[in-house]
Amino acid sequence: MSRPLAVVTGASSGIGAASARHLAQAGFEVICAARRLDRVEELAKEIEGRAVRCDVTSADDVASLIEAVGDRLDLLVNNAGGAFGFEPVADADLDAWRRMYEVNVIGVAAVTKSLLPALIAGRGTIVVMGSTAGQVAYEGGGGYVAAKHAVKAVVDTLRLELYDQPVRVCEIAPGMVRSEGFALTRFEGDQSKADAVYAGVAEPLTSDDIADIVTWVATRPAHVNIDRLTVRPRAQAAQHKVHRVQ
Ligand SMILES: NC(=O)c1ccc[n+]([C@@H]2O[C@H](COP(=O)([O-])OP(=O)(O)OC[C@H]3O[C@@H](n4cnc5c(N)ncnc54)[C@H](OP(=O)(O)O)[C@@H]3O)[C@@H](O)[C@H]2O)c1
Repeated sequence: MSRPLAVVTGASSGIGAASARHLAQAGFEVICAARRLDRVEELAKEIEGRAVRCDVTSADDVASLIEAVGDRLDLLVNNAGGAFGFEPVADADLDAWRRMYEVNVIGVAAVTKSLLPALIAGRGTIVVMGSTAGQVAYEGGGGYVAAKHAVKAVVDTLRLELYDQPVRVCEIAPGMVRSEGFALTRFEGDQSKADAVYAGVAEPLTSDDIADIVTWVATRPAHVNIDRLTVRPRAQAAQHKVHRVQ
C-alpha cells in the first residue's frame, strides 16, 4: 500500500528535519525541501523519502516542488522561515525585514497556493510554523514579529476561505526552541550571541518536541482541525517571563 505523502519545507535543519523524521516514522512518504540540497538528500535517504531543492522565495523552485508532488498531497508543513537580526525598529535593517517577509510570509503563500489543488484532491492538512512572535511583540523582534503576525493572519484567512473544502489548516506557534539554526541565523553565525538566547534555561523546547506536535496534529481524525497550538517550554511562562538559573 502506498504511504500518505507529506511535504516539509525547510527540512534541512532543526524543526523541519525533525518533523520529516517523525512523519516518516508515522508512515508518511516525505518530500524534504530546502535550499541545501546535500542535507535534504541525506535526510531523504535516511527516511526513505525524496529530496527537492526548493527556495520557497523562488517561483522556479516552487514549480519544481509542485512537479515532484503530482496530483495528490496529504500534508504540507510550511516550516521554512527564520529571523534575521535583533535591532530596534529605530535602526531597522530594511533589507533584512524584506527578506523575513519574503521567506516567512510570501513563501508560505506561494507554496500553499501552488499545492492547494493537490491538497484538496488528497483531503489534506496544511500546517504552518508560526511563532509566539506572531502573538506578542518583543523589543528587537520588529521585523520577525511583524512577519509572524502576518503568518497568523494568512492562516486564519485561509481557514475561512477553505471552510467548505476537505482541507484542515493549523498553525503551530512555538516559543523558545533550541533548534539547530534559528538563533545562529538571527545573529549571523555569532555563536556566543546565539547561546545567550538560551542561557540558564533548564530545558528549552527541542526540534523533536515540535515535530511530535506536527505529527500529532496531522494524524488526528480527518474531521478534527487543531486551529492553533501555542507551545512553550515550562520555563517560559510568557515571552518576557523566562526562568533562568545562572
Ligand atoms: N527556534 C525557535 O525558537 C522557533 C520558535 C518559533 C518558530 N520558529 C519557526 O520554526 C521554523 C523552523 O526554524 P528552526 O528553529 O528549525 O530553524 P533552523 O534550524 O534555522 O531551520 C530553518 C530551516 O528553514 C530553511 N529555510 C530558510 N530559508 C529558506 C528558504 N528561502 N527556502 C526554503 N527553506 C528555507 C532552512 O533550510 P535551507 O537554509 O537549507 O534552505 C532550514 O531548514 C521557522 O519558520 C521559524 O521561524 C522557530
